Amino acid sequence: MTDINKKLIEKREEANLGGGQARIDSQHKKGKLTARERITLLLDEGSFQEMGMFVEHRSKDFGLDKQKYPGDGVVTGYGTIHGRPVYVFSQDFTVLGGSLSETYAEKICKIMDLAMKSQTPIIGLNDSGGARIQEGVVSLAGYADIFYRNTLASGVIPQLSVIMGPCAGGAVYSPALTDFVFMVEDTSYMFVTGPNVVKTVTHEEVTSEDLGGAKAHAEKSGVNHFTSPNDVTVLKEVRDLMTYLPQNWQSLAPHKEKFNFDEKKLETIASILPDNNNMPYDIREVIESVIDDDSFREVHKDFATNIVVGFARIEGRTIGVVANQPISLAGVLDIDSSRKGARFVRFCDAFNIPLLTFEDVPGFLPGTDQEWNGIIAHGAKLLFAFSEATVPRVTVITRKAYGGAFDVMNSKNIGADFNFAWPTAEIAVMGAKGAAEIIFRREIAAAEDPAAKLAEKEAEYAEKFANPYRAAERGIIDDVIKPSETRTRVANAFKILENKKEELPKKKHGNIPM
Ligand code: HXC
Repeated sequence: MTDINKKLIEKREEANLGGGQARIDSQHKKGKLTARERITLLLDEGSFQEMGMFVEHRSKDFGLDKQKYPGDGVVTGYGTIHGRPVYVFSQDFTVLGGSLSETYAEKICKIMDLAMKSQTPIIGLNDSGGARIQEGVVSLAGYADIFYRNTLASGVIPQLSVIMGPCAGGAVYSPALTDFVFMVEDTSYMFVTGPNVVKTVTHEEVTSEDLGGAKAHAEKSGVNHFTSPNDVTVLKEVRDLMTYLPQNWQSLAPHKEKFNFDEKKLETIASILPDNNNMPYDIREVIESVIDDDSFREVHKDFATNIVVGFARIEGRTIGVVANQPISLAGVLDIDSSRKGARFVRFCDAFNIPLLTFEDVPGFLPGTDQEWNGIIAHGAKLLFAFSEATVPRVTVITRKAYGGAFDVMNSKNIGADFNFAWPTAEIAVMGAKGAAEIIFRREIAAAEDPAAKLAEKEAEYAEKFANPYRAAERGIIDDVIKPSETRTRVANAFKILENKKEELPKKKHGNIPM
């Protein structure tokens, strides 16, 4: 071997060791993989092409000039997932705690710029102690450079963030600006201020896990979209999700030529709804009965469970599903479910993913908590997101479609293309009992037997409106269909809409009620 090649090999070996074997061992002891091991699992075998392996920081303060590591704590480059290109950066906790320096930020920005120029998705594997404290403001500026690029890339290319260790302070805002956040149980956490600061300022005692672990963000804040038990599983899930997504805003998600559909589901779908229309059922059973077998990937599974969102396939093509969930708060719309639904609709619309809505909604959740915390503005987000979506949009009303929530849930009049209802649908301003109490109040009060009068009037209102035919007469829904016809009707609707083109009025941008 020539001396020149020997030098290269030695330099590569040194870079591959990151912060050294002792720190790699400590990383493994915590149940975490190293930055490079993670990339190997994320990408197709042998596809990773590294960039910036020999980059070093330029700082001299606080002894940093004596602590130089080739690569400077982040591994960057590109490769493929199921044969499709992606850019990737992986933060290396073994090098100065994965902390972000000026040059480290430059490495990330370099691949973000390339990802944008080549309209290719970018995936960030996060495991970092935050800003490199010894570098001061240049590190903060480096974060801002990344945030700026995250924002410009939003809606242009899919951006995924995987949290595989600490992610604290302002560093949380890069993942927050991306499309989907994955977190690993027990080893990852995200917070703006950690437990110590929380204790000083608010006197609350809280652990890192309770404050910002995977569970907290999956159930309470909604920051975390997908939770996995370990590094290996999370990277598999990222690879799987990528099969549902297009490369950029101008392309379509991959079409899976081979798909299965168990025809038996057509026989059982009608029996999912209980005979009593006030009893709950799991809307996921309806979703599963309409889509290709095993194709549902629920997003935000543990957050705002009264709405279900996720990706699925119909005849091999990706769709986004938004569905009220009767087994959780009767499927009512509230602040969190509106936020969850709106964000998902925005993603699908940005990336050409057709939307299928299943509707069974009794209305918006009443109460001071909801009103004072802004259900008006948050509910408007979902309304805005659906109204502005130009992708093919299909709605199936399975049961209740009441009040403002009926309008919001991808109704015809806010631009849905095909609106179907099952014979069990009830489309009205409100439930029959509430309606009868209001419009026949005097008559009921004056009756000899007010309870019997109320029941009579309730039945009268239900007879008139607790069905889909009033709406069908007006064309507010396009057809009443049997549950067993749903898959075919939905699949045909998406097929005929394949070349749909819709332009919104010219403007700088809308003013979504944030
Ligand atoms: C420089 C850092 C560092 C940092 C950790 N290290 N964080 N070096 N800047 N931010 C170094 C440690 O000195 C240590 O070096 C090595 O990384 C591993 O850290 P440990 O503390 O031994 O690891 P662990 O016990 O696992 O704890 C991890 C940790 C802790 C919880 C992340 O290191 C920590 O609290 N770090 C500081 C976090 C922080 O306050 N960051 C700034 C946040 S503000 P040696 O040589 O001993 O191995 C921020 C603002 C961003 O990020 C703003 C953007 C707008």
